Amino acid sequence: MKNINPTSTDAWNVLTEHFKDVKNLNLREAFSQNSNRAEELTLTEGDFLVDLSKNLITKETQQKLIDLAKECELDAAIHSYFNGEKINATENRAVLHTALRTQDTSSKVGEKVTAALASKEKMFAFVDAVNDGKITAANGQKFDTIVNIGIGGSDLGPVMIYEALQAYKNEMTLHFVSNVEGDHVEEVIKKINPETTLFVIVSKSFGTQETLTNSTTIRNWFSKKVNDHAIAQHFIAVSSNVQRAVDFGIDQENIFPMFDWVGGRFSLWSTVGMSVALGIGTQNFQDLLEGAHEMDEHFKNTTFEKNIPVQLGLLTIWYNNFYKAQSEAVIPYTQYLHRLPAYLQQAIMESNGKSVDRNGNPVNYETGNIVWGEPGTNSQHAFFQLIHQGTKLIPAHFIAFAKAKYHHPDHHNKLMANFFAQTEALMNGKNQDEVIKDLQSSGKSEEEINKLAPFKVFTGNKPTTTILIDELTPRSLGKLVAMYEHKIFVEGVIWNIYSYDQWGVELGKILADRILNDIENSESDAHDASTTQLLQKFYSINN
Ligand code: F6P
Repeated sequence: MKNINPTSTDAWNVLTEHFKDVKNLNLREAFSQNSNRAEELTLTEGDFLVDLSKNLITKETQQKLIDLAKECELDAAIHSYFNGEKINATENRAVLHTALRTQDTSSKVGEKVTAALASKEKMFAFVDAVNDGKITAANGQKFDTIVNIGIGGSDLGPVMIYEALQAYKNEMTLHFVSNVEGDHVEEVIKKINPETTLFVIVSKSFGTQETLTNSTTIRNWFSKKVNDHAIAQHFIAVSSNVQRAVDFGIDQENIFPMFDWVGGRFSLWSTVGMSVALGIGTQNFQDLLEGAHEMDEHFKNTTFEKNIPVQLGLLTIWYNNFYKAQSEAVIPYTQYLHRLPAYLQQAIMESNGKSVDRNGNPVNYETGNIVWGEPGTNSQHAFFQLIHQGTKLIPAHFIAFAKAKYHHPDHHNKLMANFFAQTEALMNGKNQDEVIKDLQSSGKSEEEINKLAPFKVFTGNKPTTTILIDELTPRSLGKLVAMYEHKIFVEGVIWNIYSYDQWGVELGKILADRILNDIENSESDAHDASTTQLLQKFYSINN
């Protein structure tokens, strides 16, 4: 991919000037001045409607951002991405999660697609055999519980999808163990019957401290509760390091390989989805892949003007680099997506939290945005106060599904009323006159009104993007997640950074190992005074 400093492009200079003109854009006025604004700034793709019109942009802004994308050669970058070029240059790898969800073996990455299809076939055969009771526990009973042991991309994606698709789950019960906290392991194992549980160890590297520690503890517990001989039937692994999984004691037959051209945080579509596939069945898993593929096709083939991930990525650049917004909120109006923000935190922040450009030089502009959120309406009763009346600009994505899974029209209408009301309220706010009128009609005295009015004013003009999808299904969920994956890609291209490595996390792993050595020997001297005193407090409680 080209190395282009975005701030040195003509388009960036144009945008800087344009920003001066539009930074005080008033959304209420923009709507009253242009009756076509909603239509002009809305994108659709099948069951997806993405309304950008409540953002601090004009059609002109959109065009200038597209010019930036063009000058940063986004087109060529998309081509490199889908064609398997080694765009993860610091690890010398291609980035081909898209090859996991296509059937097309005739493209440039046909060999990879063929390998992915074979791997999926093996996984699906295993999943069907377990779910049909053909592969059983050591005592001949049907497995009824799955424990997924993994962390980061080997956990967050599968948990998020499984939680999102609760309405599609079969009779299998799934648990996820991720944290290297003995208490977390304990809380899970006390809920399960080892005799009918299948443990899925997921680790691309098979070298992650948390996953190996948890797997060892669980394996030892299992040996005691059942016996050593049953381990081969009850423990399977998903890894690209087959040898390490074999050394751990997993039967070679029960190791499901991962590819080095799929990054951990983009791997839920691969064998990393094993637990999810066991929990929702292979047909639903296939639908998830097909939904993601639909978004891949849209992203690859749609002009920038109508391209959902491109437009969402460019909006992030606009807020992050011109408005200097520090963060973005993602608010799904469904409890099913309660793990989406956590999943996106890894996908977005591990990818674009970089401060060195593709030339190896420190960047002279802001990169990776902070993402956070919680489902609505709960979040309305938690942090919305700050979005409405705080000092920070927080562009927010509001996601909802027009049709509910179960028939509770009273609930669904209320949920959706809140969904629509919030973006409207964030945009419109409430001015002084409106506040005073309200207070007058509630019978307040003039003195009370003067006292209270300033606190009840909402400035409004808070930008939101509304993503309204027909219904939450495996297919639409796959499409939604792929939409965010491509948005991340677009941002990384414009920011001229490598989105697919994570050296920052690697350093933390090494440092923790060093301190572990000190803890095991009750040493504290080799550290700064603060760390020394904290270690000593820890020893005093535990010894
Ligand atoms: O957190 C860093 C990271 O490397 C992630 O990118 C990855 O998803 C996670 O650790 C787990 O790694 P593994 O699958 O190799 O255990």
